[in-house]
Parts: sequence; structure tokens; C-alpha cells
Amino acid sequence: MLRFQGIVGIIVGLLSLCTTASGATNTTMLNRICDGQQYYPHGPYGNTVNTVLDDLSANTATHGYNYYGSFLNLYFQFWGHGACNNMLGQSDCTTCINSARQQLFQVCSYSVGAQIQLQDYRVRYEIYSFTQ
Ligand SMILES: *[C@@H]1O[C@H](CO)[C@@H](O)[C@H](O)[C@H]1NC(C)=O
Repeated sequence: MLRFQGIVGIIVGLLSLCTTASGATNTTMLNRICDGQQYYPHGPYGNTVNTVLDDLSANTATHGYNYYGSFLNLYFQFWGHGACNNMLGQSDCTTCINSARQQLFQVCSYSVGAQIQLQDYRVRYEIYSFTQ
């Protein structure tokens, strides 16, 4: 129970960071989709998911706020997408992408593919290529 509250506290902290960093960031969640299949957390699949999400965190704000990444390893090819509202500052965009990652992990734990769309930012990863 304590551990659960700790995790919720961290999530809330990140969300409020995303809210306050730019003042007007709209964090309303519009949509989220979790693939029903789950991967084994400690295998190569999970590592690749993390690599793709790290790539989105690192590059969305510096690539026009609309970044598609792809990552290929021995076993899988993944695609990811991160986007922010142009109204956000660059560091706010990165903060919000990280916040969306946390939320995605919370609501779609270990899904083989997942997406979350908030009013001002979104994150998605899949094992197939996509264009939106
Ligand atoms: C945030 O986005 C939601 C969904 O589009 C909208 O209903 C709401 O009015 C927005 N809030 C602000 C403060 O703009």
C-alpha cells in the first residue's frame, strides 16, 4: 500500500510539473489505447520499448514537436511517435513527453503497443509502422 502511494505520488508530481512548467499546458486526457497483449518485463522486448521511449523523450522537442522514431534490434523493430502543442516551450515539451510516458506506463503496463493522447501532447509506440 505504501509503495502504491509512493508511485502515485511520483506520477502526480510529474503531472503537476507538466502543468506548471508552461503555465497553460492542458493535461486533459483525450484517449488512450493499450494493446491487450503484454510482454515479459525483463526481456529484450521491454528494453527495446524503453529505448524507443527514451528516443521520443530526447528528440520530440528538438524535431519540430512531431517526432517519429524507429529502432531495430536483433529481435524486433519498433516505431514511436511523440508530439507536443507548438505553444509549449521546448523544455516543457520534454517534461510533458516524460509525464505522458509515466502515465502510459501506469495505465498500459507492459502492453506490446500503446498510445496516450492528451490535449497538448501525445506518446505512442508500436511494433509496426504507423503515420498518426
Ligand atoms: C483542455 O482540453 C479539453 C479537451 O479538449 C477542453 O475541454 C478544455 O476546455 C481545455 N481546458 C482549457 C483550460 O483550455
